[in-house]
Amino acid sequence: HVIPVIGLKGFILGLLIGPTHGIEISVEPLPTYVNDPALMKVNDIVGTIQSVNWYKGEHSAQNQILSYIPSANPPQTNGSSYIENAAAFPNATLSIPRVQISHSGTYIVQVQATKLEQANVTLTVKGKSCDGRKYKVTATGLVGTQRSVLSLGEVLMETMGLKQGRLML
Ligand SMILES: *[C@@H]1O[C@H](CO)[C@@H](O)[C@H](O)[C@H]1NC(C)=O
Ligand SMILES: *[C@@H]1O[C@H](CO)[C@@H](O)[C@H](O)[C@H]1NC(C)=O
Ligand SMILES: *[C@@H]1O[C@H](CO)[C@@H](O)[C@H](O)[C@H]1NC(C)=O
Repeated sequence: HVIPVIGLKGFILGLLIGPTHGIEISVEPLPTYVNDPALMKVNDIVGTIQSVNWYKGEHSAQNQILSYIPSANPPQTNGSSYIENAAAFPNATLSIPRVQISHSGTYIVQVQATKLEQANVTLTVKGKSCDGRKYKVTATGLVGTQRSVLSLGEVLMETMGLKQGRLML
């Protein structure tokens, strides 16, 4: 008879404490490379979703990617900072089918369900070589000789501003 009592205590404690955190965003896949289909999933939403707003950067009308109102027709409205081919799902998830390095940054979601909640996540999009391999790179530049292991996209960025770059396979 001891176990049911402990179970009941746990249940009551759970009711008293309630959810300890609000909504959270998780990014898939991780790490995120250029041209990946990226999903930003909103977890732990309580209740029925009435509206979803996604922003890139600060929470402002100018930074709005899109809004999604399940009861509207169509449910999605593209905002001033709309990202090409981005779409929201009824569960608030944001999908960017071919993510680019310029899409890196902080994303904010605001969800109206049982209550109005907000969360943010920082997306880091990495460069990738055609075959997905990592290359060893020697770049001779203004700051001397640097040797590091980078992916090709990073190499291209890294060698900008350098006098000379050399790719060693
Ligand atoms: C939301 O829906 C999308 C598309 O069906 C799915 O991929 C994703 O896993 C869902 N997200 C959550 C948090 O359930
Ligand atoms: C938003 O943009 C997508 C193209 O990426 C388009 O298919 C959709 O119709 C647009 N939605 C609205 C409401 O204009
Ligand atoms: C992101 O969320 C964290 C934790 O809730 C908060 O401290 C921070 O101010 C938020 N950043 C933005 C840009 O909203």
